[in-house]
Amino acid sequence: MSAAGGGPLVLAFESSCDETAVALVDAGRRISANVVASQVALHAATGGIVPEVAARAHLRWIVPVLDEAWADAGIGWGDVDAVAVTFGPGLAGSLLVGINFAKALAWVHDKPLVGVNHLEGHVYAAWLLDPGEEERDEPPFPLVGLVVSGGHTLLVEMRDHLTYRLVGETVDDAAGEAFDKVGRLLGLGYPGGPAIQRAAETATARDRLFPRAWLGDSYDFSFSGLKTAARRIVDAARADEGLPDDDLDARLSEAATAELAWGFQDSVVDVLTTKTVRAAAATGARAIVLGGGVAANTALRARLAGEADARGLPLIVPRPGLCTDNGAMIGAAGARRFAAGERAGLDLDARPSLPLAAR
Ligand code: KG4
Ligand code: ZN
Repeated sequence: MSAAGGGPLVLAFESSCDETAVALVDAGRRISANVVASQVALHAATGGIVPEVAARAHLRWIVPVLDEAWADAGIGWGDVDAVAVTFGPGLAGSLLVGINFAKALAWVHDKPLVGVNHLEGHVYAAWLLDPGEEERDEPPFPLVGLVVSGGHTLLVEMRDHLTYRLVGETVDDAAGEAFDKVGRLLGLGYPGGPAIQRAAETATARDRLFPRAWLGDSYDFSFSGLKTAARRIVDAARADEGLPDDDLDARLSEAATAELAWGFQDSVVDVLTTKTVRAAAATGARAIVLGGGVAANTALRARLAGEADARGLPLIVPRPGLCTDNGAMIGAAGARRFAAGERAGLDLDARPSLPLAAR
């Protein structure tokens, strides 16, 4: 598909977690509109996502977000070739809002419906072009994709469009989940990822304080031990500063918070980067694609870019706003599925544990 027009124009919905997102994407690449209503402020109050609250917020926002997307793109139903929607993995109640909305619209307007895997969307964000952005080559195959989000951490090999082999995945927590938990431990609020990144940027002491779980030669990841280590290290730092265990309002000094944030982030970045470049070499990849909310992390982007460059491998990583959840990535993947002849029926259902790939 060329982004120069002529490809399908896809209206895409994403509501698997805590962003209500609608996009219009041309030819699987060119963004015509990409509107995201984030529930971050809503979930910050509870320090995490309450599924029912998230589902209700999707219901509240999906119509205004769609209206804004139409206005941004300046087009209407007559221009749309297909409707794409995330059907998993994610929170059932949240997924169902997007699925039912997309289904009803596809039916009323007599448009084909395509179901998209959310994780596949994170990979296909690498194909997207912003409005006005200069055309660039598509990612070459075979490639290795690292998807790191709040709920998932996986390495996949793609030898062609829409085909994925699982190279490795987390055996316990996702990388983003670890960021969120350690952010909470450090009193940095929700979501932890961006807050840890900001704190780490101010660190002056940069010591290797946190362990790495290598799991031998495996391409799998484990972050639960890191979380336990973080608890111990934070407790020790609090004791050093004479802070009570039971009063989390008494915060560590900024210097100690920054040092621990940096050490934790460095451990995650080290493991993610090392395994990804090793997987790329082992599979003969011609490029590395990075996606998912944690891919917004500047330290991860910089380190992986450096290591990929040292091996002569292009790293394709979307701008941060296209790494976190959005509708455009669903439109990019949806266009490929539509072009491949895939159609979902009106029985399309939410698949909270939908896998992306098998080994
Ligand atoms: O992909 P995403 O938006 O939603 C899911 O599908 O889960 O990812 C959200 C995750 C959260 O855990 C958040 O803390 C993390 O991505 N995240 C970051 C950064 N921005 C978002 N983690 C590290 N550094 C960041 N800058
Ligand atoms: Zn995501």
